[in-house]
Amino acid sequence: MERVTIVVLLLISFHIQKICTAEIDSISDIKFLTEEDTLVSPAGTFELGFLTPGSSENRYLGIWYKKISVKTVVWVANRDRPLTLASSAVLKIVHPGSLVLMNDTNTTSSSGIMWSSNTTSSGNATAKLGDMGNLVITDGDNQKILWQSFDYPTDTLVADMKFGWDSLTGKEWHLSSWKSSEDPAPGEYTFSVDKRGYPQNILKQGANIIFRVGPWNGIRFSGNSNVNGNKFYTNSMVINDTMVAYSYHLINSSSVSRFTLNSSGELQRTMWVEAEKKWQLYNVLQKGVCDSYNICGAYGSCSNVNSQRCTCLNESKFVPSNPMGWKGSDWSGGCVRRTPLDCKNGHGTDGFVRYSNVKLPDTQKTWFNMSMTMKECEAVCLKNCTCMAYANTNITGEGSGCLLWLNDLLDIKVIVDGSTVGQDIFVRMSSSELDHAVAQPVSEKRSGKHIKFILLGVSLGVFIIGLSSTLLWYSLRNRHHAPPTVEEPMHVGQSQQEVMELPLFSFSTVAQSTANFSPENKLGEGGFGPVYKGMLEGKEIAVKRLSISSKQGLNEFKNEVICVSKLQHRNLVKLLGCSIEGDEKLLIYEYMPNRSLDLCIFDKTHSTLLDWAKRFHIIEGIARGLLYLHQDSRLRIIHRDLKASNILLDLDMNPKISDFGIARSFEGNETQANTERVVGTYGYMSPEYALDGLFSTKSDVFSFGVLVLEIISGSRNRGFIHTKHGNNLIGCAWRMYNEDRSMELIDSSLNEPNDPFEVLRSIEVGLLCVQESPEDRPEMSSVVRMLGGEGALPKPKQPTFFTERNLLGADFSSSTNPTSNDLTVSNVVAR
Ligand SMILES: *[C@@H]1O[C@H](CO)[C@@H](O)[C@H](O)[C@H]1NC(C)=O
Ligand SMILES: *[C@@H]1O[C@H](CO)[C@@H](O)[C@H](O)[C@H]1NC(C)=O
Ligand SMILES: *[C@@H]1O[C@H](CO)[C@@H](O)[C@H](O)[C@H]1NC(C)=O
Repeated sequence: MERVTIVVLLLISFHIQKICTAEIDSISDIKFLTEEDTLVSPAGTFELGFLTPGSSENRYLGIWYKKISVKTVVWVANRDRPLTLASSAVLKIVHPGSLVLMNDTNTTSSSGIMWSSNTTSSGNATAKLGDMGNLVITDGDNQKILWQSFDYPTDTLVADMKFGWDSLTGKEWHLSSWKSSEDPAPGEYTFSVDKRGYPQNILKQGANIIFRVGPWNGIRFSGNSNVNGNKFYTNSMVINDTMVAYSYHLINSSSVSRFTLNSSGELQRTMWVEAEKKWQLYNVLQKGVCDSYNICGAYGSCSNVNSQRCTCLNESKFVPSNPMGWKGSDWSGGCVRRTPLDCKNGHGTDGFVRYSNVKLPDTQKTWFNMSMTMKECEAVCLKNCTCMAYANTNITGEGSGCLLWLNDLLDIKVIVDGSTVGQDIFVRMSSSELDHAVAQPVSEKRSGKHIKFILLGVSLGVFIIGLSSTLLWYSLRNRHHAPPTVEEPMHVGQSQQEVMELPLFSFSTVAQSTANFSPENKLGEGGFGPVYKGMLEGKEIAVKRLSISSKQGLNEFKNEVICVSKLQHRNLVKLLGCSIEGDEKLLIYEYMPNRSLDLCIFDKTHSTLLDWAKRFHIIEGIARGLLYLHQDSRLRIIHRDLKASNILLDLDMNPKISDFGIARSFEGNETQANTERVVGTYGYMSPEYALDGLFSTKSDVFSFGVLVLEIISGSRNRGFIHTKHGNNLIGCAWRMYNEDRSMELIDSSLNEPNDPFEVLRSIEVGLLCVQESPEDRPEMSSVVRMLGGEGALPKPKQPTFFTERNLLGADFSSSTNPTSNDLTVSNVVAR
């Protein structure tokens, strides 16, 4: 009996399954879609049919990707009128040419209509699904498009879909989130183009703006990093009197990428990675608290990592409007000009101060003209006392167009990153505040010399990514022919002076000291060239020689000179001098008898010499050196390439951080930046840096965490694969920690440490540092305290087990062979 039932059930299910696979290519007067059917696009990329999200009881008509294994819905018709399980629905064309969804096959009464395109046709309307995922209803007689689903986006923007508005047709294309992952009804978040002033994209929760994407500037949305070099898609933006429309186009139509507003209000782009059968996060638009709309008030600027969240855009020209509130972390009042403007009836002595690298302020109250020049723009702004600032609408080439702000500047963000160079805004100031030398928001409380140096540091960021000419270098080599620069003549002279403070040696002296760079004297390879041992004035030295052919090396050389000559800490390597003659560039350091940390910890014969006390001493030293770089040094520095081979050891095994070739200094209160060129070392790069090019002090903290685990275990994170579990070192440390077996992580060549508490605590600190989210990772100041044994430690969250495989899954191309160990590599991050 039982067997018979099973057979019957099997037969039934077989039957149903067969029906389920019925695929049709169009819906017309004579062809309709039942719940068992799907409408498939010609090349089979998209499919329309009935779906039930998650464990919901409701059913919806929607479109999803047909070729990928995770069902991903991109559009839903009856968002807020779901079908219940009991009914049997049908999608058909009814007179006079409307596509309608009925909840009962046999009814045509309006109560049964769950959704309708409300179109009218002159005859023979048909509905087809295109390979872009667009459901289109056309008039059979004249082939006119009557309706298309691309005009009614839900929470997803697929490639070639428009976002914006068209005043001629009255269409408005915006995204609205699902209520939850199981309920496609419109949720509380909407993402749309703000129609007031110059177009900008705003994310709203209910009626409140919570996040703003800066306005389009001809290349990218202001405040976002450069989209050039993106190899997945191209952006297109149309802005004219009647239309504002953004869309993206996939470069390879077989890649799968979507832009979504999820039910928790997160805007993100994801890519389908077929090899891993999953969606990979590619870019998240909101990158932290500082992206909350207008968090610091007028003329305020936000920092994600500082203890003081908000500062005034320029601390010497603006003051908090409510100093008491400001002290108590109430930033709502923002800042006001220290010296009031002088403008009456369009006359006065006001002028403008330029700020570079900003996400342009809120454009709700702006005026614009796409054909004016910058000069005309300035004149118009100057004449109108309500005009607070002006900028180009388009920064391509020389820049063009005029955008005027007619109210206080809200929601500004200052970005210290070369890749966004060119986004300037000119802010109206009283004549007494005009200071043409200050192009960057720099606090004048610092001494004169210091300011110049920071300017230099900022211009350096530009050098590295190659957006600027090699100004400094040129001036060093060819003083009499310094290039005429209009905007930043100051930098040239200053750079020269700053660099020259370092003792200069002649090439022949240094060459002699290293026995003419003999192979026997070679110590190893540094970031941009070989390193030799030498003897100079009775002192042992290490000489780094820039490879003549290396262009990147030249930038790194300059960077290193500038960084290291200004830093002094006993856990940083000390630069003694340099030599620049013709094509020969040499850096001279104090000599480190015990070479680099990787040679000590990863080599089984040497590692026995490093007992726990020495290892802990090294961990503490690196932490202090890094804390100095991040917080206490004159330039605040993100090292970006912290790894065992960049930690040198002196005679007493004191660690010294070295190799500042790709370090970045960051200004005042800015602590996070974005780069297109990801430069670093596999195994040490934090996920947000490797994948999104986002670096901050917290990406250094991540690398530090990896180092700690490596020092304890004597194994490299990269290349370490646990034989049984396939974890990398981080994964292995995490697993052991959770199984209370952390002590097993310790290097086998280490004797039983007499202080297991210190070991366990260090492992835990390491795990706290490698947490996936940068916000969760501690600052170096906390790390130093934690290592010192102070206080209880928070429980670490699960880290990403970051392996090369993940990296390749994100479709990275590496300019360097990724399998060679510990090489610093560089990647261009596509966005
Ligand atoms: C497009 O992507 C597919 C699959 O990822 C690949 O096989 C194909 O070679 C790519 N085409 C081009 C022109 O790059
Ligand atoms: C929305 O996206 C964010 C960021 O990727 C994620 O943390 C969050 O869990 C998502 N929310 C939902 C409901 O999926
Ligand atoms: C300044 O600009 C605003 C906005 O365009 C305008 O309403 C106002 O009349 C202008 N004032 C003068 C003096 O031109």
